[in-house]
Amino acid sequence: MSLLNTTNNPNVLVGLETGDDAGVWSLGDDRALISTVDFITPVVNDARTWGRIAAANSLSDVYAMGGIPLFGLNLVAWNNDELPTELLSEVLQGGLDIAEKAGMAIIGGHSISDPEPKYGIAVTGEVDPDHVLTNTGLQGGQDLILTKPLGIGVITTAIKAGTVDDDSLEAAINSMERLNDVASRVAISAGTTGATDVTGFGLLGHLGKMTKASGVNAVLYVDQIPFLPAARQYVEDGIVPGGTRRNLAWIADQVDARSFSEIDLLLLADAQTSGGLVFGVDKDKSSDVCAELEELGVDAALIGETDAGEGKISLR
Ligand code: CO
Ligand code: CO
Repeated sequence: MSLLNTTNNPNVLVGLETGDDAGVWSLGDDRALISTVDFITPVVNDARTWGRIAAANSLSDVYAMGGIPLFGLNLVAWNNDELPTELLSEVLQGGLDIAEKAGMAIIGGHSISDPEPKYGIAVTGEVDPDHVLTNTGLQGGQDLILTKPLGIGVITTAIKAGTVDDDSLEAAINSMERLNDVASRVAISAGTTGATDVTGFGLLGHLGKMTKASGVNAVLYVDQIPFLPAARQYVEDGIVPGGTRRNLAWIADQVDARSFSEIDLLLLADAQTSGGLVFGVDKDKSSDVCAELEELGVDAALIGETDAGEGKISLR
């Protein structure tokens, strides 16, 4: 625990204590920096596509906190013995594709030699200190909105196994490459204070962190939660990443699953890469928010609601 203690520095607006997506550092009354780092191993076979996904994944935590990215530093682990440097150029070009889309500059980086390639970006952004979206910001009586379908972990496992179908592959890549910028902007203008992005711990894991930190319970409407095309079929066929099973074991005590099956639970706990945002919004605004997101090309779904509580998640 002491290892995770941040300092008592008054400039730290958000540190490690709440398990939030990024750190926030005050620059004065109305300005704050946001800082985060993330890197991943390959999830698809095409180098440039992987670069784009890794970059979008790295930027996601900035958007999950309500910020915008300013600049980033590339982090690269590359197998120099077995992989050509042209392939690395492709990966970095993918990162630049996304940086350009996000209006962010890449201003440096560092690489090491490593048998298993890894790529990501350490991102510095800016956030309005009065509108930081955190894990502690959910309130009782809100609707919960999710902005990307689940099932990425299952589909990328099928990619690695060589059994993925074309529709699922394309949908997964499109979803992972998409930035959470629009979702973040719409959430902030709707008055959202509690948000996170759904990544390695899956929807149940990340929502469970938020409900605990915020002191609310959540109900999930399982039928309304969107999934990538063949995700359920793959889980039924036993294609489940180890991380997804660990997620479910870790969160199980916090979830009232009622009569839902283990398949449903694994899908809800599936470890995501570059997943969407999940956020709370006042009930009188949620249908407008969903409509606005749809109009802007975001696959948003109203997936549940919150109530006063101690962090439980119930499936309905
Ligand atoms: Co995050
Ligand atoms: Co992260």
